[in-house]
Amino acid sequence: MVVPVIENDVARVAELHTLADLKGQSYIRVAQIAGAHFLRELFASADQMPDVMEDRSAAFINSGALLFYEPSTRTHDSFLAALGYLGARVIIDHDGMGNTSVAKGESFSDTLRSIEETTAAEVLILRHSDDFSSEKAVEAVETPVINAGSGKLHHPTQALLDAYTIYKELGELNGIHLVAVGDMLHGRTIKSLAQLLALGEGNSITFVAPESLSMPDEVLQTLEGRVRVHQTTDLEATLGIGDVFYWTRVQKERFPDTDAGRAEYNRVKDSYILTPDVVRYMRRDARIMHPLPRVNEIHREVDKDHRAVYFDQMRNGLLIRMALLKAIATGT
Ligand code: NCD
Repeated sequence: MVVPVIENDVARVAELHTLADLKGQSYIRVAQIAGAHFLRELFASADQMPDVMEDRSAAFINSGALLFYEPSTRTHDSFLAALGYLGARVIIDHDGMGNTSVAKGESFSDTLRSIEETTAAEVLILRHSDDFSSEKAVEAVETPVINAGSGKLHHPTQALLDAYTIYKELGELNGIHLVAVGDMLHGRTIKSLAQLLALGEGNSITFVAPESLSMPDEVLQTLEGRVRVHQTTDLEATLGIGDVFYWTRVQKERFPDTDAGRAEYNRVKDSYILTPDVVRYMRRDARIMHPLPRVNEIHREVDKDHRAVYFDQMRNGLLIRMALLKAIATGT
């Protein structure tokens, strides 16, 4: 099969028009997705995954390796579970790289090539603090790489599960007004989701953030002409108009570890706290999402509100990651 390729600054990765285009390929950024057709096929496959989970003889993938250089609960565990449900016989699970030769100073590319050679894993699932770690990984190894979060820039599988959740909740991915609240500077999930919404028709995104945490210009430029974008610090003005509110955590660990960095974190960390009182001003048919983890930016009482779907996002993440892995392994 000839797979169309997009040339990035550093890596050659497949352009994805159909699910079949994923076979044997890496998935490292949303920009690989050519259009809504690919998403429809992936979502239809994810819809089938509860049946696959029941099927004890499922054998869609043989093996996979998780390389998580950064902490993770949902992404790590759902990928691990997804490999298991798809029937993988061999799963290499580096949950933190502290016990590998990374601790002895081994280079990133040597570590990846070594895991590729020693395990013959069918897919490498990578999370790393470097914005371009996935592109570097694709250059270092032949094995397909899935980007499970790279630095502050990309979280393309989170975007898939977020879009799948919006699609399930609202029935479409067009004409949506998404209000994203919190840390746009450090948050990678919202950057990838914004790219994905730009594939739809007539979508709008309002970024609500303190000035110092606003969406970087380079990211805004990639959205230009594809999705309507507004930026504000005024949350109140958005409460009545959002179809989907996408709350995010202020990412303490990505502030400089200096007195000035800590002072800035303390200044902005409580800028937007979602309480039942704030939720009252949202439309009854709005939805509240969050990639989690949360710190204190959504009060626990909001969890019971029918608009809160952040726990549903997690199960959707398992289903969509199963569909993604199955497509990489089988092309279907
Ligand atoms: C996010 C991440 O790692 O980017 N979490 C996730 O994968 N669900 C968000 C965060 O860390 O705040």
